[in-house]
Amino acid sequence: MIRYGQNSADPDPKPADIAAADEHIAPAPRVSIQAFCETVETAAALQAASEDRRLIKAHLKIQMGGIAAALEAYRGSPTPNVIVIEAESRGDSILAGLDALSEVCDPGSRVLVIGRVNDVILYRELIRRGVSDYLIAPLGAIDVVRSVCGLFSSPQAKPVGRVIAVAGAKGGVGASTIAHNIAWAIARDLALDSVVTDLDLAYGTAGLDYNQDPPQGIADAVFSPDRIDTNFIDRLLAKCTDHLSLLAAPATLDRVYDFGPEAFDTILDALRATVPCIVLDVPHQWTGWSRRALIGADDILIVAEPDLANLRNAKNLIDITKAARPNDRRPLYCLNKTGVPKRPEIKPADFAKALDDEPIATIGFEPQMFGTAANNGQMIAEISANHRIAETFRTLAQVLTGRTEIKKSRSGLLTPLIDKMRKRA
Ligand SMILES: Nc1ncnc2c1ncn2[C@@H]1O[C@H](COP(=O)(O)OP(=O)(O)OP(=O)(O)O)[C@@H](O)[C@H]1O
Ligand SMILES: [Mg+2]
Repeated sequence: MIRYGQNSADPDPKPADIAAADEHIAPAPRVSIQAFCETVETAAALQAASEDRRLIKAHLKIQMGGIAAALEAYRGSPTPNVIVIEAESRGDSILAGLDALSEVCDPGSRVLVIGRVNDVILYRELIRRGVSDYLIAPLGAIDVVRSVCGLFSSPQAKPVGRVIAVAGAKGGVGASTIAHNIAWAIARDLALDSVVTDLDLAYGTAGLDYNQDPPQGIADAVFSPDRIDTNFIDRLLAKCTDHLSLLAAPATLDRVYDFGPEAFDTILDALRATVPCIVLDVPHQWTGWSRRALIGADDILIVAEPDLANLRNAKNLIDITKAARPNDRRPLYCLNKTGVPKRPEIKPADFAKALDDEPIATIGFEPQMFGTAANNGQMIAEISANHRIAETFRTLAQVLTGRTEIKKSRSGLLTPLIDKMRKRA
């Protein structure tokens, strides 16, 4: 995909995290990228981009020396999938350098050029020579991520699915219940095809909550990594509603579930390729794969109860995922089970202060309603469609799918968030 002059030339760039929340950039596949920079600023932007979750599979090597160094490097060795060339100079010498490069460049390699000259004639010449994208320095990491990822998502391809990871700050806080209700609302109210992926293989409750008992599910995939492709995953999905399917956990203990950090990668890739929205029910564990599931998601929702241990853990989770995702919207959190009779609580305002962010929702303790829903295998909206908590789930569905043009929730619980997003938009 070729774009011109839309990068840092923007006189009023939005903060990177908001830009990334607005747009949906599909992760790049396992490709090799070599960059030849002329300035330390561009090298730094590329280095920051290489640490972005969307380039986690790509191998990016950065060196200095611009096009001359590239020519030298490729005279005797094959070229990578992507070559990034920074060219500080004026148009003519950029073109001459690229002509020389084309003689040593393998036909399959794509070339990105980073320059300072904002000139449509140069741009046309670059495109004529087969350059894939021209970026104007100074660049932000997200500009590089967008451009590199754009090379591998063809315009004809279906948009790649958005992953929403939901995890609890402590066990039993209601993370799964909230994940399932949000996914159900995404499917029902936004009519977006969604899959709930239950990553709690031993104890997962998604099957119970949706009143499903599928014979197959996520275990069949994770224990047969060689068989995974979109058709195989498709056959493992249990259909819950018109737009909602479930990749269920076995919830049996005859095996143990010790996985490596990359165990779920191919499953999620296959889901992303066919499903617009994937909700990950991430169990309360800190393992290589659970960390990877959170960090690799497009959005993260942490669920916390209003006590001190939850506050500490939520802060740790938010801090670590925020640091690992500098080009993304920060992780969101909600408070659940507030107002338990006689239980002392940390107030939402104190949570907000400690976490430096408002909760995107506060959901009260409603044991009757949640207990009935859990035991009947129903969603809150099926039990009480007009209850304000059902409305909260609908609003969360909109926020987490990036549809923030929403009417204010009647309860007003999401007002601060919506106002904040409106202001930023
Ligand atoms: N707001 C609420 N009011 C009352 N009960 C709730 C509320 N939210 C969730 N629950 C109940 O809390 C229990 C635990 O919920 P859930 O299994 O979703 O938690 P979890 O965080 O996923 O737990 P785990 O750590 O086992 O994965 C369930 O019985 C659920 O119905
Ligand atoms: Mg759970």
